[in-house]
Amino acid sequence: MEEKYEWVTNDTSERANTSLDFLNENIAKKVLQFHSSFEQYSETPLVELKELAKYLGLNDVFVKDESYRFGLNAFKVLGGSFAIGQFIADKLGKDIDELPYKTLISDEIKNQLGELTFITATDGNHGRGVAWTAEQLKQKSIVFMPKGSSKERLERIKAHGAYAEIKEFNYDECVRAANALAGEKGYVMVQDTAWEGYEKIPTWIMQGYITMAYEAYLKLKAQNIKPTHIFLQAGVGSLASAVCGFFSSVYPENKPIITIVEPNKADCIFRTAKANDGKLHFVTGDMDTIMAGLACGEPNTIGWGVLKAYADHFLSVPDAAAAHGMRVLGNPLKGDERIISGESGAVTLGVVSQLMTGEGLSDIKESLKLDENSVVLCISTEGDTDFNRYRDIVWNGLYPNK
Ligand SMILES: Cc1ncc(COP(=O)(O)O)c(C=O)c1O
Repeated sequence: MEEKYEWVTNDTSERANTSLDFLNENIAKKVLQFHSSFEQYSETPLVELKELAKYLGLNDVFVKDESYRFGLNAFKVLGGSFAIGQFIADKLGKDIDELPYKTLISDEIKNQLGELTFITATDGNHGRGVAWTAEQLKQKSIVFMPKGSSKERLERIKAHGAYAEIKEFNYDECVRAANALAGEKGYVMVQDTAWEGYEKIPTWIMQGYITMAYEAYLKLKAQNIKPTHIFLQAGVGSLASAVCGFFSSVYPENKPIITIVEPNKADCIFRTAKANDGKLHFVTGDMDTIMAGLACGEPNTIGWGVLKAYADHFLSVPDAAAAHGMRVLGNPLKGDERIISGESGAVTLGVVSQLMTGEGLSDIKESLKLDENSVVLCISTEGDTDFNRYRDIVWNGLYPNK
């Protein structure tokens, strides 16, 4: 399959009927309070790339660098930790506000809970977050990873005491296998996507992701800056819908233009938006994109509802866009700060850079209204979570621009 840019503008006729109450600022405050009680918590940097903005012909570019999150090199722990915290709060009949980190990990809570096993399916980052949280709680975790997952990511998950294994099938099939085992053995399924009948935990996971959006929002607001454009990468769309929902809720009158970005090889949300027929459209098979975190073929049903109503554009892009973003962020212009960003983390900035400079993309750039007045926000959702691949791309030039 030839890789190329494809794009569709959203039909947002459902907007008025779609509530954002579960992603609003009150929720954000609660979630941030929970995360900031962790001893590993510190706000991740929001890097202003002034020189890059000038070079690309934009007003400003901000990149939230999630490689610093809890020392885990990716944002994902925000979702797993909040969902597990909420699960425990529910189980003990408490409010999450009564369970700050120190209380949550105490022997007293462990004794009340007894032995629990948390299970999940993941390309790596979410599984590491779940395994890490289970380790803090002195509980067990099981992680299934799709075919082709990096051994390095497997070992990192095992290092948190999890039982982890790479399966012979893709992400969506790993989710079904984990869910079946959870049902059989009474394990707690902590999945970062929703489907009919499985909505509580994925909603908490989405809410957990708001912390990074809220930190960025507060930082920008303190400088009187409002982003005009936000680019969000999507696998199942939990992250994208959480951040899209939050920013749409805090700017109800003048919402930023929000664009969702997926790899050509796993563009289930793009396909669903393009078909616009009220059905979800899946991608099946191996989905061998370099953006491992985005290699998901079935959209989160709750997340899709939010994106359908509040996202403005959907893009399906080549792997080379991610590689380009990694190189741009890793080799900044003089005066800008360097960001180490992995494949799934860098794709949005790669897209912004290619839209502003690339041939044949001006119709997309114009439709997105990207120009010298634009203040762009991207989230680098991971660092070099695949250490060797990072060097192959950034040092050795793998996946060049065509
Ligand atoms: C680094 C990274 N970025 C983005 C995503 C996409 O998140 P979601 O599956 O919620 O769309 C993932 C998912 O695993 C990821 O690991």
